[in-house]
Amino acid sequence: MSYKITIDSSKESFPAGNNETILESALKNGHSFPYGCRNGACGSCKGKLIKGNIHYQNEVTGISEQESEDGYALFCQAIPESDVIIEAKEIDRVGDISIRKLPCRVTEIEKLNHDVIRLYLKLPSSERLQFLAGQYIDLLLREGKKRSFSLANAPHNDDTLELHIRHYKGGLFSEYAFHELKESTLLRFEGPLGTFFLREDSDRPIIMVAGGTGFAPIKGIIEHALHLGDQRQIHFYWGARKEEDLYLNQLAQTWADEHDHILYTPVLSETDKADEWQGRTGFVHNAILEDIEDLSTYEVYTCGPPPMVHAVLDSFVERGLSAEYIYSDSFEFATS
Ligand code: FES
Repeated sequence: MSYKITIDSSKESFPAGNNETILESALKNGHSFPYGCRNGACGSCKGKLIKGNIHYQNEVTGISEQESEDGYALFCQAIPESDVIIEAKEIDRVGDISIRKLPCRVTEIEKLNHDVIRLYLKLPSSERLQFLAGQYIDLLLREGKKRSFSLANAPHNDDTLELHIRHYKGGLFSEYAFHELKESTLLRFEGPLGTFFLREDSDRPIIMVAGGTGFAPIKGIIEHALHLGDQRQIHFYWGARKEEDLYLNQLAQTWADEHDHILYTPVLSETDKADEWQGRTGFVHNAILEDIEDLSTYEVYTCGPPPMVHAVLDSFVERGLSAEYIYSDSFEFATS
């Protein structure tokens, strides 16, 4: 039997999944409720049960008897036994999420092309990382050094974290990741960080512009938008030097093939006559300027090398787009 969960303040309702917690049902239906451990210990998911009945799927320790008597419940463990009305604060900005230092284990290292690998990281079973699609984490290295990597998975898919690592000759972490890092290695990170995330309350059509592994946060944002059922038009342009640098080209093409509101245009900057590439060539920002005369109604998300990000910022503003609608994440190469 399926029950209805209603948020008291907004009067919005969503169905409770079969045998699913209030938190799971909320996240599935696009509501960003706060959470931390997702196992009843930390109390981050606490909210008020105004009406209805629940039971806990596991024993909980993150709530006091007094709080329970006052009507509070831990939504990460609470399974509805009737229609329920709840009071819960939704996370809609970076400041609502606490930044934490956490350990994680490398569960898989996947080679995506000649110079990009994908790392899958798992947190301890008592922890989950809450973040907004597109944010990044800092891997904490020896001697106080750190390296930033965007999260390539969407928040609803937080069982493992996904990073795309490009090989830089002499790069402190990338040399280690490509030549020494093994599955099961324990790492530490701090996050989530950054203000590069999907603005969900906007109704502007979206242009996404990625260069190289700037694809990672764009992937997280597009998967999040698809999960939300956001029907805004998304035109994704991925700039790379050569075809082999489009390391998840087929995934991007599949988004476009399966969803009418998503367009995908890969653009290569270094092709020669011998290449069989039939697609667009040149700098990625120029391809967009050729395609769209008036950019003033769009919202733009751009991530990648600093020259590309700056070219997007400068040229798009010249084409009528207010800078407040350009969200960017520029990959500065860390030298220390
Ligand atoms: S998320 Fe930690 S107690 Fe629910």
